[in-house]
Amino acid sequence: TDAPASSVVKPHPPEMENKSADADACGAPAVPAASPPKEVPVPAAYLESTSHHLPSLDEYNALYARSVADPAAFWSDIAREFHWHKPWPADTPPIAWNYDPRAGPVFTHFWKGGQTNICYNALDVHVAAGGGDTVAFFFEPNDPDDGRARTVTYAALLADVCRTAHALRAAGVGRGDAVVTYMPMGVELPTVMLAAARIGAVHSVVFGGFSPVALAGRLAAANAAVMVTCDGVRRGSKWIDLKAVADEAVAIAAREHNHTVRSQIVVASGSRPAGGEDVLMTPGRDVWWDDALQGHPSTCDVVWVDAEDPLFCLFTSGSTGAPKGIVHTVGGYMVGAATTFKYSFNYMPGDVFFCTADCGWITGHTYVTYGPLLNRATQVVFEGIPTHPDAGRLWGIVAKYGVTAVYTAPTALRSLKRAGDEFVTSHNTSSLKILGTVGEPINPEAWDWYYSIVGNRRATVVDSYWQTETGGHVVAPLPVAGLVLKPGAAQLPHFGVVPALLDDDGKVVEGEGSGHLVISAPWPSALRTLMGDHKRMESIYFTRFPGYYATGDGARRDADGHLWLTGRTDDVLNVSAHLLGTAEIESAIVAVPGIAESAVVGVPHEVTGEAIYAFVVLMPGTKGGDALRAEITASLRVRIGPIARVETIQWVGARGLPKTRSGKILRRLLRKIAVGGGRDGDLGDVSTLADPDVLTDLLDGYGK
Ligand code: WTA
Repeated sequence: TDAPASSVVKPHPPEMENKSADADACGAPAVPAASPPKEVPVPAAYLESTSHHLPSLDEYNALYARSVADPAAFWSDIAREFHWHKPWPADTPPIAWNYDPRAGPVFTHFWKGGQTNICYNALDVHVAAGGGDTVAFFFEPNDPDDGRARTVTYAALLADVCRTAHALRAAGVGRGDAVVTYMPMGVELPTVMLAAARIGAVHSVVFGGFSPVALAGRLAAANAAVMVTCDGVRRGSKWIDLKAVADEAVAIAAREHNHTVRSQIVVASGSRPAGGEDVLMTPGRDVWWDDALQGHPSTCDVVWVDAEDPLFCLFTSGSTGAPKGIVHTVGGYMVGAATTFKYSFNYMPGDVFFCTADCGWITGHTYVTYGPLLNRATQVVFEGIPTHPDAGRLWGIVAKYGVTAVYTAPTALRSLKRAGDEFVTSHNTSSLKILGTVGEPINPEAWDWYYSIVGNRRATVVDSYWQTETGGHVVAPLPVAGLVLKPGAAQLPHFGVVPALLDDDGKVVEGEGSGHLVISAPWPSALRTLMGDHKRMESIYFTRFPGYYATGDGARRDADGHLWLTGRTDDVLNVSAHLLGTAEIESAIVAVPGIAESAVVGVPHEVTGEAIYAFVVLMPGTKGGDALRAEITASLRVRIGPIARVETIQWVGARGLPKTRSGKILRRLLRKIAVGGGRDGDLGDVSTLADPDVLTDLLDGYGK
């Protein structure tokens, strides 16, 4: 299998490098080099194809230097370009923070005391400036020819957002209240997010692939009395009944969390299979979206909120315990989302942006709903999946709308690459200027395919490293003249981001070297807290290395000072660019009767980046086999959702898992065994094992 580690660059003769650089200049046919190029300058064809917010690497360097030397001045200058109902106080510092829990509670403040509204800045400002007719969204449905494609202008979006804001208010949502959405990707989802923001409510989007149990937990944790959902969605050739999941989740929330969902607003997808069951609507609780919006005016006052009031809570997996409800606030997130979008994707009027992410993830929050709209961008919103009806779908969309920047995940690129180049070359992708990637390290082979086949060596690759917690890009090769791209490296810190590498003891690694990636100064879109548990936030991100925000990722700094992300350093797996905590997977597995214990590790996978490999310890008298495997799959589906799929199960007998004397599972050993290692004595130090004999059993059980 391909190793997904970004730090692995296959060696190749120097002439290969020259060849791909030449090919770029003289427009040679788009055939990838036999081995991926090591370095490629930001292509001249790209630089000539557009104007630039940031023309050169020198200008990046100068601006970056200013952003870290005087962050308050740098960010406040940018913040003043937005509309503030009330400016932040002149007599207190615009930025304040503490990243050292020993010195008091951890906090980040940007422009506290100032009042603004992100929805107003994303919509009203543009409409007032004459941009009402600019297209905000081209909606592309799952099935290309089903007649549901539509175009939504900024003026139309503003009117819908206002009607939705009234409908939310009518359902009882007020300032500071939470609204959960459980919807497919479409225009309605960002509409609800913006409507909530307009009235000072807090949105919490739950990806429409999570199970009823997972949704119930999030409804309760977010304390949401109102949910916006949809009758269902066609994803690829499958129909998914979201309303049934929502109803079950509401019942579970009542039963198990003592939490009441008072009201559900239900969007009609318009793609429900004919002849199927009717949608079950509970009178007094459920109302159709059209009815809820009916009769409300297309204007709505704005609730001005403090820059540090919460904007949204988005749940993400952690290494232990329940998912973390990451809380972002209005002012900093607004400025961070807008600024990173502007510079990473060099958005210019007339460009068409296409992010393939669902708003159920942070990428959809920052680079569908907020970043693009704050920049008055035109974008494609896509309901479907990259392989439906065939593996050319994304490139067909690029051709249809003249997309100039596409933003997707390496796992999608790897699966599309496998389908064959003809799915790309049969479409005209020459409008592309920017090729964005996110979610995991991109392997050089996928990078090269993206660059050569999709981008015809005329578009520049932006490998953006960031997290739900960071709110926006923190490391990315900006599309500037003079930068040499390195396939697999995210390279340059974004403005205001001060990365550092620390060794296990917390000592700073200077110059070339590897370590834990931490950030030592605040940036505007940094997380502020975890929903309902500030102490947990401090202990997860700020305690091991006081004074720093710890990303949980490892990184390497090369001789040029560029950063290469090397993967998680904690017990979080990254499967198809979705994070899954080992603890949540393991607890779903041990919920199956007959299973005593389980430990899961990630193994490299050609398409999904990482795949889940589970060691499952059986109770005496239980037999491992297809029936038990099916039960495990079902339990994962029910508790987490279909994204939590175990690739390999290794049944483990009575001796159990390798543990230290203090009872800690030695995952390092399990990882080695899972990738097929260990038989030649390369297991490393096993002296801390309480019972060395367990290894014999585990090695015997591999591959059976
Ligand atoms: C990983 C997604 C390498 C990383 C925006 C991070 C990446 C986690 C990259 C966050 C990248 C994301 N290169 N690794 N370009 N982008 N990651 O919260 O491990 O869903 O910590 O946010 O994805 O995932 P999350």
